[in-house]
Amino acid sequence: MLIELPKHSEIFGCIKIHEVQKVLKLESDEVQTELLRGFSKEEMEEILSRMTIIVPIKDEKMHLLDGVLRSIPLGCKIVVVSNSQRGEKDVFRMERDIVSDFYRVTKHPITLIHQKDPGLGIAFKEVGYNCILDETGFVRNGKAEGMIVGLILAKILGSDYVGFVDADNYIPCSVNEYVRLYCAGLSISKTSYTMVRLHWRYKPKVIEDRLYFRKWGRVSEITNRYLNKLLAVQTGFETNIIKTGNAGEHAMTMKLAEIMAFSTGYSVEPYQLIYLFEEFWKGETEFKEAVKSGVEVYQIETLNPHIHEEKGDEHIREMLLQSLATIYYSKLSNDKLREEIVEELKKNGLIKRRTEIKKNDIMPPIRSIDVKEFRRFLDEYSETLIMYG
Ligand code: GDD
Repeated sequence: MLIELPKHSEIFGCIKIHEVQKVLKLESDEVQTELLRGFSKEEMEEILSRMTIIVPIKDEKMHLLDGVLRSIPLGCKIVVVSNSQRGEKDVFRMERDIVSDFYRVTKHPITLIHQKDPGLGIAFKEVGYNCILDETGFVRNGKAEGMIVGLILAKILGSDYVGFVDADNYIPCSVNEYVRLYCAGLSISKTSYTMVRLHWRYKPKVIEDRLYFRKWGRVSEITNRYLNKLLAVQTGFETNIIKTGNAGEHAMTMKLAEIMAFSTGYSVEPYQLIYLFEEFWKGETEFKEAVKSGVEVYQIETLNPHIHEEKGDEHIREMLLQSLATIYYSKLSNDKLREEIVEELKKNGLIKRRTEIKKNDIMPPIRSIDVKEFRRFLDEYSETLIMYG
């Protein structure tokens, strides 16, 4: 992997956001210059051996899951957290078959669990992390909730790095590139509190029977604009440094993941950035070691285009509403920016009144969870956990 090094970065207290870096070549020898960085196979393997890739999934096509799993580079661990249908049409059972076959043939270490596993409900309750549970004692629906389950399993597996890839990807080889880019970003970082967020080069769409290679997704363009405005509210300087507000594909050091709060639903990715600014910019956090070491955010543009399952307009609308709601309710925001958000949401037909902007629930960092205890309850009560390898 050969990538550009960031030529420009913006600094907000102890947080450094690097401008978008491009991929120059998918394979390379080790290269280190002022402007470029190439990674040898051995360097990549070293990071991979300490990484877990988490795949959240809910009722996706089996072909897509199968392709994603087969494309994840060798050397890392995989955790699949499913919230798929069970019962008469048992989608989870099909996923379990795919995972078992995958392990049987490849021997790639892989763990699978269902988000509604009673063992998870009991384990979260016993370690005092009730905020993830619904009123019946099961883990709530939601991608962010699935990500937290994955994080805890990655911690149990002893990983130093975690990366997330969606299961609804139509181009398996792009997943291979995503994971290698995670390794590249984590490897050039100077701190153990690092996040790598991917920016897709193109998001193609079929328009009038031909493929059109769009640069920006509809939601991303708007979310990024308002995240950048949020920064300008505080600094007084306009910026366009943030290009990865909705980056579903991202990775972190476990040290950062442990002190990260998570917003429910599809606000999870923009909220990660807001949380970093709210918590670490002014240095008032309880996580002093992160302030001392510094927090770095890398944004890397992929070579592959991103083609995923289209979930329809309502899904896009919900994603935009939840993304802008996190900015609206941020304590770094001000009345003027809130007014602009209200107008933007009205213009997009998402709200009629500002009272319709609902605050997303926030789940606190998982750092204080005793994973040994968690594992003990999971082993005793889980009905779906499979750990291969
Ligand atoms: N475990 C679990 N639980 N997984 C879920 C759940 C859930 O309740 N809901 C969705 N997923 C899985 C999906 O199956 C898919 O693999 C992944 O999470 C992404 O969810 P989608 O609903 O397909 O979102 P999207 O593809 O439209 O949006 C993605 O890209 C956005 C940026 O463009 C997501 O990654 C967004 O979070 C991201 O902002």
